[in-house]
Amino acid sequence: MIGEKDDINLEVVEKKKVILGFYGLFYIVLLTLIVALGWFYLNNLEAFTREKVTPLAKLKDTLKAEEDVAMMKGSISPPVDIFRESITSPDKIAKGKTLFESNCSSCHGLEGKGDGIAGKTLNPPPRNFHELTGWTNGPAFPKMFKTLQEGIIARGMASYSTILPEDRIAIIHYIRTFRNDFPAIDQNELKELDKTYSLSVGVKMPSQIPVSLAEDKILNEDSVFSAKVISIISKINADKTNKSAEQFRNISTNLNRSVFSLASYTKWNENETQFVKFVTTDPKSKGFNTSAIVLSSEEWASMFQFIKSLF
Ligand code: HEC
Repeated sequence: MIGEKDDINLEVVEKKKVILGFYGLFYIVLLTLIVALGWFYLNNLEAFTREKVTPLAKLKDTLKAEEDVAMMKGSISPPVDIFRESITSPDKIAKGKTLFESNCSSCHGLEGKGDGIAGKTLNPPPRNFHELTGWTNGPAFPKMFKTLQEGIIARGMASYSTILPEDRIAIIHYIRTFRNDFPAIDQNELKELDKTYSLSVGVKMPSQIPVSLAEDKILNEDSVFSAKVISIISKINADKTNKSAEQFRNISTNLNRSVFSLASYTKWNENETQFVKFVTTDPKSKGFNTSAIVLSSEEWASMFQFIKSLF
């Protein structure tokens, strides 16, 4: 009888151990999660507070290229009257100046002389807008529009197609103030331009959602995806041997943001060209460095393979 009782007691003790073990594990997992989220939150504190305070104002703000990419799920931007927009005004020039200083001056210099810090190592160097010779597409209004729409990727000039057409035109008006003999705006050329890019109908834009929104969505709604993104960020951070990991860190101004922006738009996954296009189009708002564009095609290729393998 006594032996039996001892057996039962032993069994109870064993069960308690198993239960305690289970809870122990549970707490460890919970603690790890809390620490990971805390780490992530602290790393993004600045972005969170900035973005949470002014979401509405930001969506309306035409200067948003600096802050974040606009909501463009349907991939058509609002129609623009190119004939009206092509007429310069002090307001357009002022807007263009602000946009130029935040998006372009790092390479083209504050005075447009092609002497910005980020452009120092570029070959060819960024265009000096005070000279009218030697341009690739040309200094005429429609040519500059083409440059901003498509970029001259192979020569280090990114596409700025995610800046709204009228904002791009405002930048062109500002650039045209650097000299008083830029080619006159030709109405027939404007007609061509309108046709080429369907401007009066609406321009095709790359489909994307704002990075800040993606961050919120991922953090609030999708914990599995959130964990995946966090793990990708820490893998890229921790990998000190892989050259592509190092390069990716170098081309990121904010690693969390650059990985999030990749996570919020998956078309780059298709091939290297899409990847290069994604990173070099409005790089700043996606957490990338504008100088990413100087990488060689081999470097792009291996970085693409590396990043793709993580997602
Ligand atoms: C990362 C550096 C960089 C940034 C940022 C940059 N550019 Fe450029 N840009 C270049 C380089 C390099 C060239 C020279 C390309 C060439 O000679 O073909 C260039 C050339 C140009 C040209 C002349 C194209 C031609 O026909 O020769 C225009 C116009 C231009 N950029 C406008 C802009 C505007 C507007 C912005 C901001 C919205 C901007 N760029 C931002 C590097 C940059």
